[in-house]
Amino acid sequence: MQYSDKRTIWLKANDPSTVQVIDQRRLPHEFIVEDLQTVEQTVWAIKEMVVRGAPLIGATAAYGMYFACLEAAKAANPEQYFTKATQDLRNSRPTAINLFWAIERQVRAINEGNSWAQKAQIAFHTANAIIEEDVEICRMIGVHGLPIIEQLSHQKNGEVVNILTHCNAGRLGCIEWGTISSPIYQAHQKGIKVHVWVDETRPRNQGSNLTAWELSQAGVPHTVIVDNTGGHLMQHGLVDMVIVGTDRTTRVGDVANKIGTYLKALAARDNQVPFYVALPSSTIDWEIRDGLKEIPIEERSQDEVKYIYGWNENNQQLEKVLLTPKESPACNYGFDVTPARLVTGGLITERGVCVASEAGLLGLFPEKR
Ligand code: MRU
Repeated sequence: MQYSDKRTIWLKANDPSTVQVIDQRRLPHEFIVEDLQTVEQTVWAIKEMVVRGAPLIGATAAYGMYFACLEAAKAANPEQYFTKATQDLRNSRPTAINLFWAIERQVRAINEGNSWAQKAQIAFHTANAIIEEDVEICRMIGVHGLPIIEQLSHQKNGEVVNILTHCNAGRLGCIEWGTISSPIYQAHQKGIKVHVWVDETRPRNQGSNLTAWELSQAGVPHTVIVDNTGGHLMQHGLVDMVIVGTDRTTRVGDVANKIGTYLKALAARDNQVPFYVALPSSTIDWEIRDGLKEIPIEERSQDEVKYIYGWNENNQQLEKVLLTPKESPACNYGFDVTPARLVTGGLITERGVCVASEAGLLGLFPEKR
């Protein structure tokens, strides 16, 4: 299974009204491409995590807005249809701000169109632009993050730099490059010795399923660990830096990311391991300051905790098995918030690296003052 020359979302050849995505629920065992042609299918793909990761959720929703225009053109009441479709997309997942950012950008662009045919054209071009911009933004995150890895390598006299990550903020969560993976890939391509500790990331296992797979594809040395191993590794000097992605970052640098990120940040601070967050600016929510109080945290089905999917090597099938007593309830918060003070390394953005603070972010994005 290879996808090295593919993005995570693309238009079907000779059919610009079909968007294709990789079904990430089935990786690493099966590479299945899903067609998206309607708002309903787009909402389904985001909710069910066929696509996931903040930038990719935003890009998929941007195409959802294009479908909303195409469908509105055929509806009895186009305005009403469009409003409902937009709301359905907004309701698909609550935490990643890229979803709302992409939808609002589309709404502003679509408002400039005079007919529904013209609005659809505008939405199509805007979605394509969002995708192209994300590719360049992630490349630039790598350009700015690379010197951090280079410096650690230099400090270690060229010995392997050990990087710990949680969840998947690699290319599968974006379009190409990824956020955390862009500096890692660029360091690897430059011949710097890197090794990635990959948190498995229960309950959905984005680490062991997705990050491990994409690092394998890129030939980057890595080791999968259970989520509780990071603290031990840090205590023994086996982690040089932690780098994670984010679904929403507040104006002052608080960071919401996959559940368990906060505990890694605590362990990192206790062991003087620098903790970095890599993010495109589309992930910054400039309207809020207090991550703990103001970032909506997604709660998902308890079944994601109680059951697990895995590959049955005997019958070559993806299978779901029960882990807990059937009657035991489970609770499933999707994300937690790491306060800015624990982001000790800094925020790596497309414009450079800054301290996780309002002053730091405004230094890079002065237009948000
Ligand atoms: O629930 P998920 O898989 O969508 O969560 C993804 C993450 O937490 C990522 O770290 C984040 O979206 C950044 S992706 C570049």
